Amino acid sequence: MANASFNISPEKCPRHVAIIMDGNGRWALSRGLPRLAGHKAGTENLRRIIRASVEFGVKYLTIYAFSTENWGRPSEEVQGLMFILEDVIDRELTELHKEGVQLRHIGRLERLAPSLQKKVLNAIDLTKKNDRLVLNVAFNYGGRDEIVNAIQHIIKDGVRPEDVTDELVNRYLYTAGVPDPDLIIRTSGELRVSNFLIWQAAYSEWYVTPTYWPDFNREEYRLALETFASRDRRYGKVSSSEYEASNA
Ligand code: FPP
Repeated sequence: MANASFNISPEKCPRHVAIIMDGNGRWALSRGLPRLAGHKAGTENLRRIIRASVEFGVKYLTIYAFSTENWGRPSEEVQGLMFILEDVIDRELTELHKEGVQLRHIGRLERLAPSLQKKVLNAIDLTKKNDRLVLNVAFNYGGRDEIVNAIQHIIKDGVRPEDVTDELVNRYLYTAGVPDPDLIIRTSGELRVSNFLIWQAAYSEWYVTPTYWPDFNREEYRLALETFASRDRRYGKVSSSEYEASNA
């Protein structure tokens, strides 16, 4: 069904969607192309999914673009992913800004080339007042690293043990100020968390699809959101209808 309309009521639409964009390498391999061609196709697809997020009314989109473990890939691929980040900023920033997208970064910037760090910071600064969609780019991000970083800062700030609460920890994470993801999408079928948002995902719903990321199109995104909308989120409790039925 091409370009079907989106009919999820705003209160059922996930406010925050996070995506593990997996399968670029296999997408390329299946076409006899180098892995970087898969990342380029994945970047094209990202553009479509950002537009669809704005259209569907998603308010926060977090994408896993480069993990703390990805440094272990061949240097050509690492350099290629660095180049893609730089190229996306160079080519897309003006348009994203015009569309009201606020860019944020989660992870450690320090290990990136100083010129790239500057571009990222400039993009964050330019778009900081936009509020149509917050796009969190997880780049050199790891969930454990994020928690270690938070603990280090909590200790440095001299916080007393009895003052450490969920809410306080949230304020020390890279995602401070961003609501937890309602829905996490993982493409290419792997059933792993892969060190992504491990604190924030405590009550997230998951949508896992065998589709490789470059082929994850607007229609499947819509299906993922509709699947989410039909779920009953209980947060460890029982649903009100179940409770009423068992007490009738
Ligand atoms: C996982 O697929 C994907 C990545 C490690 C990179 C994701 C990056 C993009 C989609 C480009 C967009 C990036 C930016 C900076 C905006 P994989 O390579 O692990 O695939 P495989 O499991 O099939 O090998």
